[in-house]
Amino acid sequence: MSVKTDVLALLEASRGKDLSGQDIARELGVSRTAIWKAVKSLEEEGYQVKAANNRGYRLADHSDLLSEVGISMKIKEKYRDRQLVVLKKIDSTNLEAKRRALEGAESGLLVLAEEQTAGKGRKGRGFYSPEGTGIYMSFMFRPEGGQAEHPVLITTAAAVAVARALRQVLGEEAQIKWVNDVYLRDRKVCGILTEAVTDFESGGIDWLVLGIGINYREPKGGFPEDIRDRAGAVCTDSIKVPRNDLVAAVANQVYDLYENLNPENFMDDYRAWSNVIGREVRFSSGYAKLQEDEWQWGTAIDIDEEGGLIVQVEGEKKVLRTGEITLRVVE
Ligand code: BTN
Repeated sequence: MSVKTDVLALLEASRGKDLSGQDIARELGVSRTAIWKAVKSLEEEGYQVKAANNRGYRLADHSDLLSEVGISMKIKEKYRDRQLVVLKKIDSTNLEAKRRALEGAESGLLVLAEEQTAGKGRKGRGFYSPEGTGIYMSFMFRPEGGQAEHPVLITTAAAVAVARALRQVLGEEAQIKWVNDVYLRDRKVCGILTEAVTDFESGGIDWLVLGIGINYREPKGGFPEDIRDRAGAVCTDSIKVPRNDLVAAVANQVYDLYENLNPENFMDDYRAWSNVIGREVRFSSGYAKLQEDEWQWGTAIDIDEEGGLIVQVEGEKKVLRTGEITLRVVE
């Protein structure tokens, strides 16, 4: 690691406390001038470092850049060998993870970006991904053994992973809207897009990319018009958790669940946090602007072990399986 990375690691590890230049220099075995240079270089990259003559250095509370050191120090020891890539700007972290999969990256790769210029949402939509206010992260896995038996469950498991991470980091209960939207305080704060490539010969999954987009803070000027009535942000003015902490919490939860992708490990939480079960819903296999007669109406009654939504439609039970179904909760 460079002196700059070492300094950042120390500042991240002691957020909220001042570290004297002398102590940092002693700890790293370099001169105080080297520390001063490293701090300047971090500031040029956008980190906000508070420096006081008699107290030393600390990261400002509002300094919130994503960083490999800031994330990996909070990733469980057993997962630290997974490749972690943090980029400033990319078209889409899902696309980048796919490109790296094709180049031979190992299963467990995690790609993040501060900004996406072509963020992908479900059903061919875009995902609003401005700089610095969101978390855009994509995992790449090469399923084998038990994971290959349940590849469709990865999206369901990921929604639980995000909800568990939010509870851990904020102490707040999230809700999950079937199939893969996570809500906080009745607003959508997270969407999940899983894409898989199947092996033509075996019919199995070669690799899959699990993309998670989180609205962390409300962007200046608010959310765009088309999502303003539903979208919300994880952080309010009074919540100032660094994004790195939530990224690491989500990663730990995803890796834990992926190691043993068994519905027993997450389906109870998925059902308990569902904001759809027990509600009247309308659904359709179309999307865009749907006409009145394209909707079916029913009551969501449960979620089965494969993640299907069981809906009572008049005298009949239907199981909605595909993520390509549009579902609205009737208010
Ligand atoms: C949705 O709500 O429609 C799903 C949105 C998924 C967005 C994430 S952001 C990280 C990853 N990269 C992408 O291009 N999309 C996913």
